[in-house]
Amino acid sequence: MSTIEQPVELDGEKLMQFVFRAVDEVGATLNSALVVWGDKLGLYRALAGSGGLSPSELAERTGTAERYVREWLNAQAAGGFVEYDADSGLYSLPPEQTVALTDPSSPAYLPGLFQIALGSVIDSPRIMEAARSGQGIAWGDHVHDVHDGCERFFRPSYNAHLIAEWLPALDGVVEKLERGARVADVGCGHGASTILMAQAFPNSTFAGSDYHDGSIETARQRAQEAEVSDRVTFDIKPASSYGGTGYDLVTVFDCLHDMGDPVGAARHVRSTLKPDGTWMIVEPAAGDRVEDNLNPVGRAYYAFSTLLCTPASLSQEVGLALGAQAGEARIRDVVEAGGFTRFRRVAETPFNLVFEARP
Ligand SMILES: C[S@@+](CC[C@H](N)C(=O)[O-])C[C@H]1O[C@@H](n2cnc3c(N)ncnc32)[C@H](O)[C@@H]1O
Repeated sequence: MSTIEQPVELDGEKLMQFVFRAVDEVGATLNSALVVWGDKLGLYRALAGSGGLSPSELAERTGTAERYVREWLNAQAAGGFVEYDADSGLYSLPPEQTVALTDPSSPAYLPGLFQIALGSVIDSPRIMEAARSGQGIAWGDHVHDVHDGCERFFRPSYNAHLIAEWLPALDGVVEKLERGARVADVGCGHGASTILMAQAFPNSTFAGSDYHDGSIETARQRAQEAEVSDRVTFDIKPASSYGGTGYDLVTVFDCLHDMGDPVGAARHVRSTLKPDGTWMIVEPAAGDRVEDNLNPVGRAYYAFSTLLCTPASLSQEVGLALGAQAGEARIRDVVEAGGFTRFRRVAETPFNLVFEARP
């Protein structure tokens, strides 16, 4: 027996609302490239505090071509990134955008987020092929904007919260760090967190490690520039076998979910800690259920997770692929499976959850 399909009634207004929302998203997608231009070409910095510039003035101050700059400025003005004064024909950067786009010391600083987003999009065709085959892509195989953008995105938040809020939220850790403690920072990337801790606690020693050789090379340079090489070392090692034992504190910043075998990593952390040591786990902010994460932050993290975190984990042994929106319950399972008996959430920001695990 055949059935006659009823035509679905379309709500024309809803259709057009969706189309216009999607057009806005196309503008936003392209804008990730233009924000990276604004950052790398110094366009935002030149606009900041200028009181308003014409396209030719901005081009002259940045050594760029006026015709490109004029078009770039109009795209920025249409998106609300810069302001356009039709009477004078000048473009300016409002104070809030100035902070968010030019001040790397502010937790609101955004260029790193756009840089890692653009790097992920540039790598997308290769990642899409991996999605067909189920293969992974190692962190180190991405374009440099992914690594650089990651450091520049996370550092402002660590700057704002790590020393002032997250470490003090751990039981007795700051006292140990002040006296002189042994710390391992695992999956440290370019070492932003390691160096911040080393600057704040000169009596302690810090062993950073990461399985990506290029990141460790950069971390070593950063430590030299920050003049903390006397108390900081960096090694190319996976989380399952980084060196040393008797640590007072082991930290993992935004990387446990990227690992193929986070339970194996947890076991190794447990084996390298002193009996009264502490494991601090910083993970992307997430609720336990999909429906908890259907919001702008969850959207960005699910997208990064699809393009970066899930392929990174799938490229490694076990390939558990927790995803960047793992949530507290799954992180607790991993930590307990690794042999830890105490686990609690100690802090959170709109972008991160911070956990304390004890043996
Ligand atoms: C999102 S980045 C975070 C880097 C750094 N912790 C930060 O906060 O800037 C994830 C890091 O985890 C590292 N990683 C992934 N799997 C790893 C593993 N099994 N062992 C050690 N590092 C790993 C990557 O190389 C990358 O540097």
